Amino acid sequence: MDHVKKGLEGVEVLTTRISYIDGDKGYLEYRGHDIGELADMDLETVSYLLLFGNLPSPEEFAAWSSRLRAERAIDDRVLDIINTCNLNIEAMDALRTAISFESHCDVDLKDSSREANIRKAIRLIAKFPTVIATFWRINNGMDVVEPDPGLSHGANFLYMLRGERPSDLEARIIETDFIISAEHELNASTFSARVTASTLSDLHSSVISGISTLIGPLHGGARMEVMQYLESIPSSEAAEEYIKDQIANKERIMGFGHRVYKTYDPRARIYKELARLIATEHPEERWFRIAETIESTVHREFVEKKGKPIYPNVDYWSAVVYEYLGLSPRLATSLFAIARVSGWIAHIFEQYADNRLIRPRATSIRQS
Ligand code: SDX
Repeated sequence: MDHVKKGLEGVEVLTTRISYIDGDKGYLEYRGHDIGELADMDLETVSYLLLFGNLPSPEEFAAWSSRLRAERAIDDRVLDIINTCNLNIEAMDALRTAISFESHCDVDLKDSSREANIRKAIRLIAKFPTVIATFWRINNGMDVVEPDPGLSHGANFLYMLRGERPSDLEARIIETDFIISAEHELNASTFSARVTASTLSDLHSSVISGISTLIGPLHGGARMEVMQYLESIPSSEAAEEYIKDQIANKERIMGFGHRVYKTYDPRARIYKELARLIATEHPEERWFRIAETIESTVHREFVEKKGKPIYPNVDYWSAVVYEYLGLSPRLATSLFAIARVSGWIAHIFEQYADNRLIRPRATSIRQS
């Protein structure tokens, strides 16, 4: 058996047409479109591109957007479940439970036809924001806010979460957030979703595999941890000390490093510019200054001590953007899930279309 690096590092286990990453150049494209070109579009357009392989015509977009917006509301029975699981849990835990229960309310649950899977995909993409905003309002003792079909995917999420419409800048920033975090080839949660789909399990079950995998701090959970340490650091001087202590204690610095990118994550570059932009509207906030100090300290310390730098990944500067949007660290990973559900579904569809059960081997160490 060929020797395989731990964690399947560098192992290409399948082919995909959905995205392409050049880890050495720091490049990412969805369906042949550079992420920088897609960042200014809207999530509804990009979710269509990911699922169907091409940008929609005006007629296709109108129909797709209308179907998504018509499916934003959640069933009263799902609302009851969210009320019931209003315990000491996080938004991702509530999402996993609510989506699992939502599948029981979906008339197409056991219909695996292409048409039924597209109907279920629309419901999942449309309802993730509603489930998370609803959980958050209930968990914080606030009245639930119904979705507004007149708002974009991102603006509607902030509206349901806060109970007021976001500014144009905030609406633009959250839309770009959902677009550039939507898809990333065979990351752990997407691979998990594809393994589940390869057994011909249903779409909801495959998406729930993705949700469960994204929670981990080495993956989507890093965003929350970055926000938590940013909030614990009062000044740039304290930021330097924090990083030096982390490195001295051989701790992982959340938001840095990547299995594939060996240079700056192209998404982190976009998030950094979003953070710079929104920071101009909040000069009293320390977040951008602290984050830049951390980034430069990490770079300097790694080059000096290890001879090579590690770079910010998608979870670093996105966490800074979330701070400026006034979002709680407890919501960070669930925002990642709102974005990534379109990527998961695109990969699940691709797995269904040309499937073979994913079942690798292990090198058994036998007991005599
Ligand atoms: C995401 O895969 C994707 O595409 C994921 C993602 C997506 O869009 O789906 O991009 C989203 O998950 C981004 C990553 C979020 N996670 C974090 O920010 C957690 C912190 N990062 C690290 O844990 C780490 O960088 C990983 C897990 C992301 C990648 O680790 P690898 O490829 O397994 O690398 P490794 O652990 O073998 O580390 C290699 C070396 C080690 O040093 P040595 O032991 O060889 O001396 O680099 C060091 C590590 O100690 N290192 C770090 C580090 N990341 C790597 N040291 C300190 N802090 C870090 N963050």
